[in-house]
Amino acid sequence: MKAPQRLQPLIDEGLVDAVVRQLMSGKEAMVYVVRCGDETRCAKVYKEADKRGFRQAVDYTENRRVKNSREARAMAKGTRFGRKVTEAIWQSAEVDALYRLAAAGVRVPAPHDFFEGVLLMDLVTDADGDAAPRLSDVDFSPQEALRHHAGLLREVVRMLCAGIVHGDLSEFNVLLAEDGPVVIDLPQAVDAAGNNHAQRMLLRDVGNLRDFFGRFAPALLRTRYGEEIWHLYERGMLRPETELTGRFEPDTRPVDLREVLREVNDARMEEATARRLRVRTPRQ
Ligand SMILES: Nc1ncnc2c1ncn2[C@@H]1O[C@H](COP(=O)(O)OP(=O)(O)OP(=O)(O)O)[C@@H](O)[C@H]1O
Ligand SMILES: [Mg+2]
Repeated sequence: MKAPQRLQPLIDEGLVDAVVRQLMSGKEAMVYVVRCGDETRCAKVYKEADKRGFRQAVDYTENRRVKNSREARAMAKGTRFGRKVTEAIWQSAEVDALYRLAAAGVRVPAPHDFFEGVLLMDLVTDADGDAAPRLSDVDFSPQEALRHHAGLLREVVRMLCAGIVHGDLSEFNVLLAEDGPVVIDLPQAVDAAGNNHAQRMLLRDVGNLRDFFGRFAPALLRTRYGEEIWHLYERGMLRPETELTGRFEPDTRPVDLREVLREVNDARMEEATARRLRVRTPRQ
């Protein structure tokens, strides 16, 4: 097909040889199948901010890093420069998350390049080599549903161990590749430790998986994996290989106040010692 204007810079740069076809036009991006040398890849072209949906909401962008205070001020004021910065952060968040997650062994499409607002990544394919369907387009037997649900929980745990909550995980953002589910669509991914909404988002992500696969395997509807995962994560006890049970008993025992105060005091003393050491260290 004739190359859309937004892909022309990648062709000029030699990153893309030809555009095969348009795959999708989502709420936030247009997605194309492209040829890069011998490879068939996927190009995600982000739409302009004002043509986009809801996800750039405050919840998601909280604690995203900016380079300097000029950028922060411009973003707060909503100047044109500020909007451009916000935009760039939004787009690069997906690229950053993909690189980090791929490195952590999470099943995401491998990223290849990010140029002029276009993300080049692996095309996720089915057994025929065609673009893979979304989970929402597939029917599952109860056994398959249980297997894929368990597999995707592993991916969620692996993501969390890498410090990331997807934030929009559902049957619409998981593709069924020949060798199993692959997680996509991460511009809203949040930092698990630094974002106050991370817990709520993780519970919602895991709840979406439960509700979807629960249609095929109703026993899943009684599970509480989200709470279990977050509970272990908060206590520093979550590992990619942690066995999960799906059960979760909220701890309703009364709080041991003396123990809590002791912890607070310890932390204070550690901080004071650290401060003294810093003061003593001579400046370079
Ligand atoms: N790497 C990929 N391989 C194959 N297909 C892909 C890939 N990335 C995206 N797609 C297809 O493009 C669609 C839109 O991609 P994505 O979800 O990342 O963008 P979006 O604009 O957020 O879309 P939506 O608003 O529909 O969620 C996906 O549902 C999927 O069908
Ligand atoms: Mg999507």
